[in-house]
Amino acid sequence: MADSPPVIELRHVGTRFGSHVVHTDIDLAVQRAEVFALIGGSGSGKSTLLREMVLLHQPDSGSVHVLGNDLATLDAEAAQALRQRWGVMFQHGGLFGALTVKENIGLPLREHTGLSGALIDEIADWKLAMTGLAPEVGAQYPPELSGGMMKRASLARALALDPELLFLDEPTAGLDPVSAAGVDTLVRELRTLFGLTIVMITHDLDLLWQVADRVAVLADGRVVAIGSMAELSHHEAPAVRAFFDGPRGRTAQQQAQQPAVQPAVQPAEPSARQATQAAQAAPPAAQAAPPAPPTGEPPSKPR
Ligand SMILES: Nc1ncnc2c1ncn2[C@@H]1O[C@H](COP(=O)(O)OP(=O)(O)O)[C@@H](O)[C@H]1O
Ligand SMILES: [Mg+2]
Repeated sequence: MADSPPVIELRHVGTRFGSHVVHTDIDLAVQRAEVFALIGGSGSGKSTLLREMVLLHQPDSGSVHVLGNDLATLDAEAAQALRQRWGVMFQHGGLFGALTVKENIGLPLREHTGLSGALIDEIADWKLAMTGLAPEVGAQYPPELSGGMMKRASLARALALDPELLFLDEPTAGLDPVSAAGVDTLVRELRTLFGLTIVMITHDLDLLWQVADRVAVLADGRVVAIGSMAELSHHEAPAVRAFFDGPRGRTAQQQAQQPAVQPAVQPAEPSARQATQAAQAAPPAAQAAPPAPPTGEPPSKPR
């Protein structure tokens, strides 16, 4: 893995909005076929960084290379070609409410390929099945779906073009423990079965412990720590400690370090998440609380 060039490489990335500096100097590299997670407090710039990796925002300084391309120097045609090689699942799903689920999934195929309607339909059915949705969900409209189904449908759309690279912004936020455990399994399978490289933003400790290969911690505009969860659990930086030392952090760590291996095709045992909910029901100490979801978002079910 270390021998091949990184799939994503950020060097000295700086970003500001007016006088508000979000990233001062971000350096990171994502290797092929790894599940790479970005964590950090609300407003630390995780979503902005993800947007910079998918050509939705340009940093003020530094460079972003994705799949061997310097994003700052792409012409429109090359940018369009590159967009077809990744899929993005946005924090709030981003599905079109006026289109059926199946039409939503088929949309990237209609935009980027010359495939026939019948073939696009068939591919959309396959992506639905891949993400564990029943065939009849294809005829439903996004507002009719539960949170878990919505996440799966937007994942199915992100997978429409068979991407090499998948970006997930808070894939389990707002889900109940059982639906969230299903997403964990799905993410793991995508990597194992299809060799996808996955970059995800999450504050979900179960997802981090059970699925992420490496985790980068954003704070003060920089990556303050990077490594596996086991490595980070010994890290001393306050932004890292804040993640591990609360009751939720400890429960997830104990759960992750139990020797029993979960069968890949069954949803992971949700008990850490239930413990998480119980722990969260009591107000955590300010220092020990993991980052809250970004402000301005609808309150999600506790994870
Ligand atoms: N388009 C924008 N215009 C102005 N400020 C923005 C914009 N996008 C993000 N920000 C600000 O940048 C900071 C980082 O935002 P974001 O990347 O969404 O954080 P995170 O995902 O880590 O919660 C926040 O303070 C946010 O208000
Ligand atoms: Mg965000």
